[in-house]
Amino acid sequence: MGSPFSSSLKRCLMGLHPTEADFQGFYSSEPDFFLVADLNRRIVGFVYGRESKNVPDEVLRRWRATKVGSVEVLAVEEQYRRKGIATLLLNRLFTVFREKEIDTVTLSVPADEYVAKELYDKLGFETRGYVMKKAL
Ligand SMILES: CC(C)(COP(=O)(O)OP(=O)(O)OC[C@H]1O[C@@H](n2cnc3c(N)ncnc32)[C@H](O)[C@@H]1OP(=O)(O)O)[C@@H](O)C(=O)NCCC(=O)NCCS
Repeated sequence: MGSPFSSSLKRCLMGLHPTEADFQGFYSSEPDFFLVADLNRRIVGFVYGRESKNVPDEVLRRWRATKVGSVEVLAVEEQYRRKGIATLLLNRLFTVFREKEIDTVTLSVPADEYVAKELYDKLGFETRGYVMKKAL
């Protein structure tokens, strides 16, 4: 049987080019936090999250957090975008996080991924830092 992940979904990740093995890896490392959007047995989007271990107590106190999770990878196949699929995937992931007592979520977005930034802004994420680079 062929892969349920379409080749365009594998291509669509900002040059990350996840392979079938990557998807297997996401699932086996975080089976609770790897969620897919399935349309007629074809996977058209997925999100992969994880619990952030080793967050210092001081940070947890400052954030008033019990446990922290992160959104690691999110993608929706191009032709199915702007239909609310990423929003559904993220909201479902947040429900699963809450079931595991994770009450704070972090993620990073490359500065030129304005679409993703729009999505996260809409979902109520606040910008808490900057990742900076300089060519030497
Ligand atoms: C980012 C991505 C996952 C969004 O998926 P999606 O299913 O299209 O998102 P949704 O339909 O849930 O969009 C929710 C909101 O995000 C914002 N948004 C989504 N696509 C947008 C676009 N092309 N332009 C502007 N805002 C956009 C809008 O506010 C949208 O709400 P609206 O449609 O009511 O205006 C998808 O574009 C994608 O896979 N991009 C490539 C991979 C990527 O960037 N991953 C995230 C890396 S951090």
